[in-house]
Amino acid sequence: MAESRPAVESPEVWTVARILDATTPFLKQHGSDTPRLDAQILLAFVRKCSRIELYTNFNTPLTDAERAQMRDLVKRRSQAEPVAYLVGHREFFSLNFKVTKDVLIPRPDTETLVLEALEFAKTLVTPRILDLCTGSGCIAVSLAVSQPAAVCTVTDISPAALQIAQENAKTHKVADRMEFLEGDLFAAIPGEARFDLIVSNPPYVPEGEIAALDPDVRNHEPLSALKAGSDGMLFLNPIIEQAGHYLTTGGLLALETGVEQAPLTAKALEAHSEFTEVRTVKDTGGRPRVILARRVG
Ligand SMILES: C[S@@+](CC[C@H](N)C(=O)[O-])C[C@H]1O[C@@H](n2cnc3c(N)ncnc32)[C@H](O)[C@@H]1O
Repeated sequence: MAESRPAVESPEVWTVARILDATTPFLKQHGSDTPRLDAQILLAFVRKCSRIELYTNFNTPLTDAERAQMRDLVKRRSQAEPVAYLVGHREFFSLNFKVTKDVLIPRPDTETLVLEALEFAKTLVTPRILDLCTGSGCIAVSLAVSQPAAVCTVTDISPAALQIAQENAKTHKVADRMEFLEGDLFAAIPGEARFDLIVSNPPYVPEGEIAALDPDVRNHEPLSALKAGSDGMLFLNPIIEQAGHYLTTGGLLALETGVEQAPLTAKALEAHSEFTEVRTVKDTGGRPRVILARRVG
C-alpha cells in the first residue's frame, strides 16, 4: 500500500510519520536490509496496532511512553537484535508463532519442507507425524493445523524450546493432538512407536561457518539450534541412521538441510538399504534444501 503523507506536519511533534522517517535511515545505516519494514513492525508493536493502521494514523503524535519504548527497541534493532525477538512473534505458513531467544526464528525456507510433508500427509487418513528438533513447533503445528486428523509427536533437546512449542500448539488449538518429548533426537521415543511421516529441520551449520553468519543470527539466535559439527551432518547422519526403524512401510522421511548438506544427505539416503525414492526439492530461492525418502517395504 502506498503511504499517503500528511498535508502539514509540525517539525516539533513526533508523529507516526516522523518517527518512521527518522528510524528508517538509522536502521539502514546500522545494517538492516529491511529498515522501513523493521521500523513499521516495531512501531506497530509499540502502538499495539496493525502495520496498516500506521498508514491511517500518520499525523498522530506518539505519547512519551511510546517514544521511550520505540527508542529502546530501535537501539536494540541497531545492535542486530532480530525484529521477531523484539516483538515476540513471527509469521510462518500464514500462522503467528510466539518466539523467544530459546528458539530459532522460523524461516520462510522451511515452508518448502512443510508443503512437501503436507502433500504426503494428505494421502493418509490419520497421519502419525514425528517432528524431531521442533524448536518453536512451527513445522508440526502447521501440519497439525492443515491436517485436522493428524497426530504429532515432537522432540527437542531444549526444555525451553518445548515450552514455546507447546504454547504455539495451544494458541493454534492443536495441543490435544500433539505430544511433547524432551530428548536427544529419537532418545525419548519409545522403541515400538511407528510414524507415517518423520520431518526434521535439525541444526546443520558447519562449525567453521558460524563466524560468517549475519550478526542477527550469530549473536542472537541459539547456537545449539545451528551448530552441527565440521560438515553440518552431526544431526542429519544419526537421523538418517535411525529414522527407518520408526517409519512405517512406505513412510516418508522429510529433512531440511543446508545447500552443502543436501547432496551429502541424498547420498547417505541412497546408500541406505531402508530407503528408496530419494528426491531433492529446491526452496523458493531455487536452492536444494529439502530431501525426501520413502521407507522400503
Ligand atoms: C534449526 S532449529 C529448528 C527449529 C524448528 N524446527 C524450525 O524449523 O524453525 C533446530 C532445533 O534442534 C534442537 N536440537 C539441537 N540439538 C538437538 C538434539 N540433539 N536433539 C533434539 N533437538 C535438538 C534445537 O534446540 C533447535 O530447537
